[in-house]
Amino acid sequence: MSTFLLNQYYSESPDWGNDVADAFCAGDISELHCSIPDYSPTPLVELPALAANLGVDRLLVKDEAHRFGLKAFKSLGATYAIYRFLREYLKDRNRPCPPPAKFYLVRNVLSDAELTFCTATDGNHGRGVAWVARLLRQKAIIYMPAGTVKARIENIKQEGAEVVVIDGTYDDCVQRCVSEAETNGWQIISDTSWAGYETIPRWIMAGYLTLFREIELALNPVDRIDLVIVQGGVGALAAAAVWYFRKLWTCLQPQLVSVEPEQAACLLESIASSGGEPIMSTGRQDSIMAGLNCGMPSPVAWPLIKYGFNAFLHVSDKACIEAMRTYYNTLGDDPRIVSGESGAAGLAALIELTQRGSLAQARLSLGLDSNARILLLNTEGDTDPESFRRVLE
Ligand SMILES: Cc1ncc(COP(=O)(O)O)c(C=O)c1O
Repeated sequence: MSTFLLNQYYSESPDWGNDVADAFCAGDISELHCSIPDYSPTPLVELPALAANLGVDRLLVKDEAHRFGLKAFKSLGATYAIYRFLREYLKDRNRPCPPPAKFYLVRNVLSDAELTFCTATDGNHGRGVAWVARLLRQKAIIYMPAGTVKARIENIKQEGAEVVVIDGTYDDCVQRCVSEAETNGWQIISDTSWAGYETIPRWIMAGYLTLFREIELALNPVDRIDLVIVQGGVGALAAAAVWYFRKLWTCLQPQLVSVEPEQAACLLESIASSGGEPIMSTGRQDSIMAGLNCGMPSPVAWPLIKYGFNAFLHVSDKACIEAMRTYYNTLGDDPRIVSGESGAAGLAALIELTQRGSLAQARLSLGLDSNARILLLNTEGDTDPESFRRVLE
């Protein structure tokens, strides 16, 4: 059963402070991504038959299953953050750093395995970090929670990284990564933040702006979007969505709704907490939406989410499975979308919001009717192909 919450803290003109603005306003983010040889914008596809079926006017899906052959958007953050880190690292050592448009050449100014990058991950962020480390001929050590499926571990090992599976949750992996990095002098590239570790997570959030910029470039300037549904793990993607749609989007601002698994709804639980402060989710963090199984919002993402999102929703694994099938078993002439569990959460939310009787008030509040134009993010493809096949059987 989905829970929906309107955000009482939403603000038309929040002030997120200089550190946030500095990270998001850097002019070199897309320039860097475009310079990567395999780069091309991921598709923005339209599903008119499904839109009609769900009773909305238009349904657009940004399909990140095609990102750099990694099947998820996460590498956008890892590339940008690692580049920014290396620029400072090289400057401190009076060594030249190639400009963002020559990102690839950075490996020529580093010795092989000069640095070890490490992070905690449910899968996709760690794969992104491992991929960048391989491109730059550096080392990567990736911490993953107990129960991580083999395919996600193998995806990372294939990038040449070492994978350490921890007997604990994602948040336990973060702790372990921090202590081992300190002991061994490794560089943490984490998408979540904590007191004293904030700059790199902000660069990661900023790296995700490329995804939203591509959407805007692919749209006709008169195209209106009324509602965007964004998956929430630690909230870095959600924070980037807030910055893009509240600060950079040139059309009418859409409403933003966050979706999480009911077993790991830390954004929803935080907004519902006293004062709307970030709190640890009470859920078991065992959803099939592995990328969203996070217990704690990232502190640097939280202010953007708290004041920038209109509403929060959590969905069940059952709703997610229905969404994966709906994307795959297309209606009419709609294009097929291969969507992994975390990728399909946005559609799961839309199906709940449009179809569930108990969410009638939510529909009204969001103006979710036959005129509504919706944007979903398929944030991952079949990153776990075996599970994907099982779901479709
Ligand atoms: C496929 C997918 N979608 C969405 C998210 C959520 O992103 P964030 O953790 O930045 O909220 C993740 C996080 O790993 C993910 O892997």
